[in-house]
Amino acid sequence: MVSYKELGLVNSRDLFKKAVDGGYAIPAFNFNNMEQLQAIVSACVETKSPVILQVSSGARKYANQTLLRYMAQGAVQYAKELGYEIPIVLHLDHGDSFELCKDCIESGFSSVMIDGSHLPYEENIALTKKVVEYAHQHDVTVEGELGILAGIEDDVQAEHHTYTEPDEVVDFVTRTGVDSLAISIGTSHGAFKFTPEQCTRNEDGVLVPPPLRFDILEEIEKLLPGFPIVLHGSSSVPPQYVETINKYGGKLSDSIGIPEEQLRKAAKSAVCKINIDSDGRLAMTAAVREVFANKPAEFDPRKYLGPARDALKELYMHKTEKVLGSAGKA
Ligand code: G3H
Ligand code: 13P
Ligand code: ZN
Repeated sequence: MVSYKELGLVNSRDLFKKAVDGGYAIPAFNFNNMEQLQAIVSACVETKSPVILQVSSGARKYANQTLLRYMAQGAVQYAKELGYEIPIVLHLDHGDSFELCKDCIESGFSSVMIDGSHLPYEENIALTKKVVEYAHQHDVTVEGELGILAGIEDDVQAEHHTYTEPDEVVDFVTRTGVDSLAISIGTSHGAFKFTPEQCTRNEDGVLVPPPLRFDILEEIEKLLPGFPIVLHGSSSVPPQYVETINKYGGKLSDSIGIPEEQLRKAAKSAVCKINIDSDGRLAMTAAVREVFANKPAEFDPRKYLGPARDALKELYMHKTEKVLGSAGKA
């Protein structure tokens, strides 16, 4: 058993309290390789933002769970070397079993998500409660989920949103003891969150998706004042990345994300953790494609992964400074 405390990591409890009180959200960025981790850490150190490093079960399979844990430990030292100590959480994203959560807790994670959102309500409660009881013995914080996001979540695909029921939230939080809760108010995973038919065009001809269900969020805030809420599926799918990808041989069409103003509004409320993965994938892909197209003779991975890392860092700095408001809060 390795405690995250020995690794210099922190759990999310105090970070969330400060974020809710301060009207901003902590970025939760997924990583599964070195360049992503370097970009996340350097961007958050430079903007003095706390950060949640997220590892999905897919990432564990891709990169190896032991390597990822040591990389997160390395990230703590890397941040110090860069000259400013920021709080770093190592979080399991979309944990789907008690065993997986236990394994992460025992190998140094400071926070886990148990995602029982696809289970019948009482089963979600039972599983989440079991994880909370174990995690809290080790001072590890737990995120649960209630409501179903449309789109793909790991291997589970849902056609439509099942919005979170505010009344269930109180019962769920009370009975499970979770530290934070992911809710469904219209966000979804991936780069194709809305179809063009679901959107309207603004005066500049840009497709604008339907707004998030802030009414549900407000209702939850009324029932559970100050309780930390999490938004998954919060990539904005910046058009410049899609354009670059398509310009250099890619084929992405109708990719639409959550407008940044909506996320800024959410970050000012009880939403204190905002998950972003797809935007990073798009930024990296755009940068790599550009190098491949303009310098076809290049074959040193540092020559295309380096620019991808720079593009990612720029994206993450933009998120902490201009979208989540976490810059300067570390
Ligand atoms: O919510 C899912 C995250 O974007 C992680 O995706 O399961 O492909 O690693 P992944
Ligand atoms: P995006 O696909 O919108 O980046 O969401 C990521 C996420 O929710 C990870 O859990
Ligand atoms: Zn998610």
